[in-house]
Amino acid sequence: MLPSVLQPLAVVLALSVGTSVSQAVTSIISRRVTEYLLPVAKQTHEIAKVPGSNFLLVSQMSNSKLIKVELDPSTEAPIAYQSFPMGENSTSGLHGIWPSAKFPGMVWLSLQSENKLLLVDPGSTLSDAPTILETIDIPVPGNGPHSIFEIGNHIWAGLKDPSPQTGEYYAFSADIDNTTDTALYPCLKSPVFIQQEPTTSHIYLTQDASSSIMRIDLSTGETSQLPIPPSVGVNPVGMITIPSSGPLSGLWFVLAGNSTGGTGTFGRILPSGDLEFFTLSTPLLGTGAAFLHLADASTPSEPALWLLATSLLSPNSPDALVRVTFDEGITEVTGEEYVAILTQNAWAHRIVVMEKTVMVSELNTFSLAQLGYEGTAAGGWLPARALTDPTVYEQEV
Ligand SMILES: *[C@@H]1O[C@H](CO)[C@@H](O)[C@H](O)[C@H]1NC(C)=O
Ligand SMILES: *[C@@H]1O[C@H](CO)[C@@H](O)[C@H](O)[C@H]1NC(C)=O
Ligand SMILES: *[C@@H]1O[C@H](CO)[C@@H](O)[C@H](O)[C@H]1NC(C)=O
Repeated sequence: MLPSVLQPLAVVLALSVGTSVSQAVTSIISRRVTEYLLPVAKQTHEIAKVPGSNFLLVSQMSNSKLIKVELDPSTEAPIAYQSFPMGENSTSGLHGIWPSAKFPGMVWLSLQSENKLLLVDPGSTLSDAPTILETIDIPVPGNGPHSIFEIGNHIWAGLKDPSPQTGEYYAFSADIDNTTDTALYPCLKSPVFIQQEPTTSHIYLTQDASSSIMRIDLSTGETSQLPIPPSVGVNPVGMITIPSSGPLSGLWFVLAGNSTGGTGTFGRILPSGDLEFFTLSTPLLGTGAAFLHLADASTPSEPALWLLATSLLSPNSPDALVRVTFDEGITEVTGEEYVAILTQNAWAHRIVVMEKTVMVSELNTFSLAQLGYEGTAAGGWLPARALTDPTVYEQEV
């Protein structure tokens, strides 16, 4: 029963509903995250889409297995997988995966414990075993290739483990046409992502535990350190290059925080080598977020980034995807859309942006999480905007 003062109003409303012209049928807009179970393993690490195929590759490091996942060509949903041991045995430490641009359809893999890089043909059907086309041995004193990147005519690897000979850490590169032509660049503990700045061609690499970024001037071989100011956060890990056209062009990286959590901060490396930082402001999932990886989320009309928050180093950070947009001059974050991963404590690890969906690997919980939108696109999810932008309600009639 409505309170009596409201009763006349209710009658008016009921009448107006009864007499108004009914509105057009509206199809429902949705977004959803679906998780896909992979074989049980302690460490599910990197993911990469093999260009020109329906396969996603996933590395499981703790048992050195490569999982080939077949995707439905229209929905991109994982439909089947087959698992292949890589290396001499289960302790070979399969870790990095990077699709080759020089050899389309082929992928680079790293065997961290065998101190090797492999160029592999993943095979054209799900059950085809990967074929090793080339093996590159990391020369002494380098140790422990982790993330790998093909940059121009070189293959690069961050060597995660201290050298048994010198106790130092190194970044490795080899000329792909002459893989005995190699270089080791001494760096701080521990090199992770390696990228090339598109306007200067300098190489930059994140060093997680020492919270610093190293720059390599390839023309002179000189290296310099760009420490992360502790006031903004610690632990640079994921770094990507956005090609040199468009407002976000250049290098972007994220800060993964420490055992107390993150600071919701990510950064950009300007061609000068200056670092610029951006911090999320919405007091939801984002302010304590520790970001491990990122990806370009731009549309033709809107520059944007995906940031992957992770509980890897601290349960104070959620496992979540955050899509951020910027003002016109890219001086500050103006929009933040949050998508929690279904399983928390998943240690969300890497993002791959596909044609229509976004895939995330869960290191601790041997799963893939896939985000997709129906009837709208990432960034168009109005309820996410309503949390920060009251003008959303101006659409109400
Ligand atoms: C795996 O292979 C390495 C290198 O041959 C060897 O040292 C190690 O003992 C092997 N481990 C197992 C579990 O077989
Ligand atoms: C390959 O690189 C090695 C080491 O730099 C060099 O000695 C050798 O001459 C190169 N081979 C060719 C064919 O260029
Ligand atoms: C974690 O990082 C913050 C800076 O973001 C720093 O203030 C804090 O002392 C660090 N905590 C530990 C345990 O290292």
